[in-house]
Amino acid sequence: MRTARIYVSRRIFPELVAELQKSYEVVDNQADLSLTAAELAARLHDADGALLTAGERVDDALLAACPRLRVVSNIAVGYNNIDLAACTLHGVAATNTPDVLIEATADHAWALLLAAARRVTESDRYLRSGQWKGWEFDMLMGAELHGTTLGIVGMGRIGRAIARRAKGFGMRVVYHNRTRLPSVQEDGAIWMSTEEVLRSADHVILVVPYSQATHHLIGAAQLASMKPTAVLVNIARGGVVDDNALIEALQGERLAAAGLDVFENEPKLDPRFLALDNAVLTPHIASSTRATRNAMAQLAIRNLADVLGGRRPAALLNPEVWDSRRR
Ligand code: GLV
Repeated sequence: MRTARIYVSRRIFPELVAELQKSYEVVDNQADLSLTAAELAARLHDADGALLTAGERVDDALLAACPRLRVVSNIAVGYNNIDLAACTLHGVAATNTPDVLIEATADHAWALLLAAARRVTESDRYLRSGQWKGWEFDMLMGAELHGTTLGIVGMGRIGRAIARRAKGFGMRVVYHNRTRLPSVQEDGAIWMSTEEVLRSADHVILVVPYSQATHHLIGAAQLASMKPTAVLVNIARGGVVDDNALIEALQGERLAAAGLDVFENEPKLDPRFLALDNAVLTPHIASSTRATRNAMAQLAIRNLADVLGGRRPAALLNPEVWDSRRR
């Protein structure tokens, strides 16, 4: 039996590649080249398994070009890059990395909220550019956080970790989730419709997965319904917010500020964002701490090894594929 062949789509820690090489023939991309769909298919065509990231699209065309493939293991919790139905059709198991990135991602949501509310990056630019001439009574006044109401749209595991941190700020939490949580998980947070959350919260954090249903969940009308003093944070996915509408709201100061880790058309975000002092921008790094990225990769490797070893992986996204194999 030949050694299973693994494709790794992006640069990962070298020790992880070395670990993979102990069990598999590995085609890596330690040069971190960004590949077109055709180049990805060419590299993947005889692979048994792939470690991918949210940047690579897995669809019917790719799967049809990779007949040996048994598993696509995303090093990400979000998996809107993977067509699960197509995977099932081709008998390919799809997996992701939930749980291990919850706390780091929740921390980053707070980093963006704090930075946007208290104008941290704007103040930093102000100071570095030599504009600071001395203390002023009303210099760079920010928004209150302590004692205000935080709205969370998408109360999954990351949303709940964000809500836990809100307690330290004495904040009331209101949230929307498709299904209302049991009260033990609500932990004092109040369920309401998305419209009510947007209307009533002082600040809003978006944590919903991207899908057709959440495409442009936040557009011009939704932004207009928010308090003009509000900060909006998006750590979910580009496309959940209509970036054009958000830019117009920030330009017109109809919204105080935004903290954004994700954008439409990443990495080519709308250049108008760059001119906005009331937007704090980070390049899709919410889970990027060494410990968390390591844990994500380790879990992705475990998921892949489980499938190739005939074991059901912990984070299987298309259980139908497994059930049909067992029949
Ligand atoms: C990052 O965006 C992830 O989905 O893990």
